[in-house]
Amino acid sequence: MKEKVLVTGGTGFIGSHTAVELQQEGFEVIIVDNFTNSEPFVAGRIEAITGIKPIVEPFDMCDAARLDELFVRHRGISAAIHFAALKSVGESVLKPLEYYRNNIISLLNLMASMKSHKCNALVFSSSCTVYGQPDRLPVTESDPVRPAISPYGNTKQICEEIIADTAMAQPGSLNAISLRYFNPIGAHPSALIGELPRGVPENLVPYITQTAIGLRSELSIYGNDYNTPDGTAIRDYLHVVDLAKAHVTALKRLLYGINKTQYEVFNLGTGKGVSVLEAITSFERVSGIKLPYRIAPRREGDIEKIWADPSLANRELAWKTVSSLDDAMLTAWNWEKELRKKTGK
Ligand code: UD1
Repeated sequence: MKEKVLVTGGTGFIGSHTAVELQQEGFEVIIVDNFTNSEPFVAGRIEAITGIKPIVEPFDMCDAARLDELFVRHRGISAAIHFAALKSVGESVLKPLEYYRNNIISLLNLMASMKSHKCNALVFSSSCTVYGQPDRLPVTESDPVRPAISPYGNTKQICEEIIADTAMAQPGSLNAISLRYFNPIGAHPSALIGELPRGVPENLVPYITQTAIGLRSELSIYGNDYNTPDGTAIRDYLHVVDLAKAHVTALKRLLYGINKTQYEVFNLGTGKGVSVLEAITSFERVSGIKLPYRIAPRREGDIEKIWADPSLANRELAWKTVSSLDDAMLTAWNWEKELRKKTGK
């Protein structure tokens, strides 16, 4: 019988790519999503890629009763991957209560139901935002977590702490892994799933592809006076399919009991820093499009540079990124073109 995995936020950007990889690895996927930041059609796209329709339960993870009832109906869920969360840094500053309520209550509900139903493997979607601006680079998992500059970032820190405390408190009853993502970009090579930003994108790559397709007039580069080789900020961009595969590996680690402690943390990145200008050049190279851009002031809350030391994940999860920046840009561009063909927008 197939192992059942609950994927919260499974129709979102990273969740949908992970659902695909899980199904391709023989897991039965049960998705919970309230479609706050995703679309119901994504489930059909997952089916189109894998040939298997994932089970989709359309409700809000803040609804504890419905979540618990799901665990009863789908008896034997052996693990959960928790993506469901609000994720806009800027919006979180304006609506902190919504962010704390949604991101923390969802996790608490999930962990309570997991406990009652003896589901003891949890993979959590965390972020490199927990490091703030590190003193030295690349950043490793043992580098300090710094006070968050946004409520969004704070929810990631708080959730990590809740999971760590719970896993350490009751040996055997919960094994968990937090995956600290650097900057996930790109889309599935089928161009059937990808990032679906609501309104004006905040993140760099969807803004680039929307500008290239003519939806936005120009890209603003937020600052060219950073202390970096070309003056623009540096991030570690990784392909979302590589990232999705790391979730399957982390999950198997927990299910096979090969984790070293009840709670583990892994950086997921390429280990290579890329500037905003280098990212633009990569996009221009693979798309053949000259991108209109201008230099704008720095964006509040942005850090200067960060990239991962992914060696722990390379070693312990036997995982590393395989796609290049160009691959990621090309798949993001193909996804954008497919999307506009269909919506006509
Ligand atoms: C941010 C968050 C991260 C979160 C992620 C997902 C921080 C420090 N990072 O990543 O935790 O998980 O969003 O939403 O809070 N840029 C431009 N022009 C644009 C857009 C972006 O120049 O129109 C630049 C930014 O200044 C930055 C880089 O591109 O240097 C990447 O930005 P973005 O894609 O928004 O990701 P982060 O801010 O790194």
